[in-house]
Amino acid sequence: MIELAIRAAREAGAILQDFAARGFRIEHKGRINLVTEADLASELHIKELIASRYPTHKILAEESGASAHTSDEYTWIIDPLDGTTNFSHGYPCYAVSIGIEHKGQSIAGVIYDPTRDDLFAAERGAGATLNGEKIRVSEIESLEKALLVSGFPYDVRERMNEYLPAWEAFLRHAQAVRRLGAAAIDMAYVACGRMEGFWEKGLNAWDVAAGWVIIEEAGGRVTKLDGATFDNHSSSLLCTNGKVHDEMLAVIDSLRTF
Ligand code: IPD
Ligand code: CA
Ligand code: CA
Repeated sequence: MIELAIRAAREAGAILQDFAARGFRIEHKGRINLVTEADLASELHIKELIASRYPTHKILAEESGASAHTSDEYTWIIDPLDGTTNFSHGYPCYAVSIGIEHKGQSIAGVIYDPTRDDLFAAERGAGATLNGEKIRVSEIESLEKALLVSGFPYDVRERMNEYLPAWEAFLRHAQAVRRLGAAAIDMAYVACGRMEGFWEKGLNAWDVAAGWVIIEEAGGRVTKLDGATFDNHSSSLLCTNGKVHDEMLAVIDSLRTF
């Protein structure tokens, strides 16, 4: 399954790069929530590959929803283009994310950034890799020295008061905070030690299913924002190198809005 996920992510990434070079149509799913021809073509290709090899497996994909399978022993959870706003503007920070869930747990995941040719992959129990080399989360032990990342869901205009206090608090406590615009890349960067922590509220299963297993297999920690056990449908996410996790939880706990 991981081999197929890797092939699907690479081929979907090539489709994205083709559209990036040739141009594409953009539509609005919401006022600031876009979908492009590239999202749809990438998703269709990934779904066709999975269905031809594993016809009984369920698929949950961002643009087309859940397949009609009644058995959900295995579910492939797909974000065909994470970072659509970046992609639409030609800002080269986006990825394909494919997670495989078994009995409620991500057991394998692939995140592919075609702009850098970075392929992150993990299988539960077998470690995490970047382009075939083992990766580990960073060794940084304190929030003071940590580079953090976060994002805003598409209801940011309606719920800004809920999201901004955490930004202010982490700007005070961390070394710096970034907003890359692609949750899958945020998670991949925590996994490979480029960043120490990522928090966000309002995420969907397709944003996190691959990143969850990749971070844990790289030695990091993934919980909800209140420290509770995470699952792909949690929507609230805190993932770190493990070492700054409790400090980040304490900062979040001190806020009334989260
Ligand atoms: C979005 C990106 C963004 C995050 C949003 C996501 P999309 O995914 O990951 O960084 O802040 O919450 O919805 O729409 O580009 O696939
Ligand atoms: Ca996404
Ligand atoms: Ca997407």
